[in-house]
Amino acid sequence: MTSKIIGTGSYAPAQIVTNDDLSKIVETSDEWIVSRTGIRERRISLEEGTSYMATEAAKKAMENAGVHVDDIDIIVLATTTADNCCPAGACEVQAALGAEKAVAFDIIAACSGFLFGLNVVNSFIQTGIYRTALVIGADHLSKLVDWTDRGTCVLFGDGAGAAVVQASETGIRHMVMGSDGSKGSILSCVARTGGNHFNGNVPELGYLHMNGQEVFKFAVKKVPECVSQVLAGANMDVEEIKYFILHQANYRIVEAAAKRLRQPLEKFPMNMDRYGNTSAASVPLLLDELNQEGKLKQGDKLVLAGFGAGMTWGAAVMEW
Ligand code: ACO
Repeated sequence: MTSKIIGTGSYAPAQIVTNDDLSKIVETSDEWIVSRTGIRERRISLEEGTSYMATEAAKKAMENAGVHVDDIDIIVLATTTADNCCPAGACEVQAALGAEKAVAFDIIAACSGFLFGLNVVNSFIQTGIYRTALVIGADHLSKLVDWTDRGTCVLFGDGAGAAVVQASETGIRHMVMGSDGSKGSILSCVARTGGNHFNGNVPELGYLHMNGQEVFKFAVKKVPECVSQVLAGANMDVEEIKYFILHQANYRIVEAAAKRLRQPLEKFPMNMDRYGNTSAASVPLLLDELNQEGKLKQGDKLVLAGFGAGMTWGAAVMEW
């Protein structure tokens, strides 16, 4: 017994912010951003919070899968930007959906979050504890971005993607995930003050801070490495894979992964030009786009892979 993705959905805020829009608030240009990252525009949430975006994506995924809300046994929301410390975003999604039977909790693994969530629900399903799951990746990174820092503010966008995962004879063949906390400082968002009311410092969340070159080096090594590892674990050859659906941080990272895996770039769909890096949402947002475009046929072999703050990484190989 394994589990299978039987439906997908996504949500992106209506507000489009182009590179030219950003060049009016920081010293940058469309040419610099496109040539370094492949990003042309991103969606920025004005009104929508993480739980709202996650709920909308989840509704579409359930509709696409043809499952009823009462079928959902577990909701896992991968996010680093929950609207509140508590209740968990997943509980807010559960309430908004009316998924009364489901257990709901969040996972923080930054841009690897959707892969971590998928691995968690796959494990529950494999052991027979649950049968039908909702895995959602949603992030509202625009609230953590320092809009005066051109090194980071041009990279990120907001959005959500979701998948319904159900027990099945075919589907996920293998998954890997990993963490290296010793590299935590290369991509972080720490409390601005480490205090409490007794020492006079009210804790506040800081801004996202990134050593871009170190993150880049980490990603171009780790992404192909974990893709090779997951394929080896499934006893599959890289040639069998139709699409490699990678975290959408930067087209140069995707290009480098394609080169290291010796696979044509056409097998690596990208949409960061329109959404930027949406963190935990990026992999399910792209998966949903391919699904809605009818590009995924039954039996297709897919690899999903992500990397992110922590540092963390994860990959899955599956049959559609
Ligand atoms: N516009 C114009 N110039 C800029 C900008 C900008 N937006 N940002 C930086 N620069 C300047 C820098 O100040 C620097 O100028 P200097 O040479 O005068 O000092 C110059 O451009 C080069 O800066 P670098 O940081 O060396 O640029 P690099 O080629 O490394 O590209 C980038 C930066 C795009 C951030 C790249 O390092 C990268 O993509 N890293 C990986 C980022 C990533 O994947 N993040 C997501 C991780 S996981 C997660 O999503 C949470």
